[in-house]
Amino acid sequence: MLGRLNHVAIAVPDLAAASAIYRDTLGAKVSAPQALPEHGVTVVFVDTGNSKIELLEPLGEGSPIASFLEKNPSGGMHHLCYEVDDIVSARDRLKASGARVLGDGNPKIGAHGKPVLFLHPKDFAGTLVELEQA
Ligand code: CO
Repeated sequence: MLGRLNHVAIAVPDLAAASAIYRDTLGAKVSAPQALPEHGVTVVFVDTGNSKIELLEPLGEGSPIASFLEKNPSGGMHHLCYEVDDIVSARDRLKASGARVLGDGNPKIGAHGKPVLFLHPKDFAGTLVELEQA
């Protein structure tokens, strides 16, 4: 079921500053910022060749990463995203094994224009997991 690692997401308080670290200090290829109001974040993608780093900054009221940044004011690793072939069958299989799907349980369109879901960190070794249909 589990496919390749699509990205590692890092929540940051200042997207421009974090982008500059990756672009200027680390010399990485960094995308333009993309606002995702439905997800309450603005994202930047860093191309690492074999995968991507997703830098997340809160967008609007009630952003899902706001409380994370209160606990981690300088930022920190927020979630891992794995690819699956069929997100609905993956969700049904995980739910049948007792895993909790966040939100209303239905896939939303993510930053790459593909359906995504989030799984409860307590069910996955303390790590928030995003599934993206490849
Ligand atoms: Co993500």
